[in-house]
Amino acid sequence: MIGKNFREAGEYDMNRSDLEFYGEYVSALEMAETIMLNELSRIMASLTGTERKCPAEHVLSRIKSAESMKEKLERQRYEPNVENAMAVMTDAVGVRVVTHFIGDVYAVKKGITRSDKWSVETVKDYIAFPKKNGYRSLHMIVKIPIGMENCDFIRAEIQLRTIAMDCWASLEHTMKYKKDVKNAELIVSELLRCAEEMASTDLSMQTMREMINSEDGEE
Ligand code: GTP
Ligand code: MG
Repeated sequence: MIGKNFREAGEYDMNRSDLEFYGEYVSALEMAETIMLNELSRIMASLTGTERKCPAEHVLSRIKSAESMKEKLERQRYEPNVENAMAVMTDAVGVRVVTHFIGDVYAVKKGITRSDKWSVETVKDYIAFPKKNGYRSLHMIVKIPIGMENCDFIRAEIQLRTIAMDCWASLEHTMKYKKDVKNAELIVSELLRCAEEMASTDLSMQTMREMINSEDGEE
């Protein structure tokens, strides 16, 4: 079943402060999110044809909460208003595609690059070049034409990562808030070691898949 793991656009509710903050841009953001989920679903379906299994384990989407958007704008020394959110921020709309294998990340990336629903503006490959804390993911910023009266296009962020990378990022994220702990240095180096172990597991899994697929005569 393709799409079973897709969260439908609009399935979660923006709360009152999100609606107030984004105001007249709410429909534009929702439209961009819908276009992305539909197009990603089509891309997954096209890849499922050859690989027999949907490359995505799950797909999540979200519109950035007003609270976190304002916090990010202030951190970057912008007035925390919707005009700046739309003009300078690229992740008001965000989609995360979590794949089984590393090869799937690059297959989905290729589909995204070829799509005529948007143009790809930036690619940051933190898989080939992990962040120094060990973070791995492939980030793409796409510019989606939506042709609404008050808004021609929306920029959105797509994060592609494997289940192992997602697992690490999620655990690291929950621990991020306490930087002043004792043994901080040890924790940093242990997190890095875990990221590297998981990356090595990802490589073994990819190799095994290729071995299995070549026996099936698929690759
Ligand atoms: P922000 O990090 O959002 O301010 O934007 P940026 O321009 O620095 O982009 P970057 O590509 O570095 O990161 C964008 C998003 O990737 C973040 O909002 C997170 O969702 C995720 N991310 C980046 N680095 C890390 C990390 O070290 N740990 C975790 N868990 N997530 C990260
Ligand atoms: Mg960052």
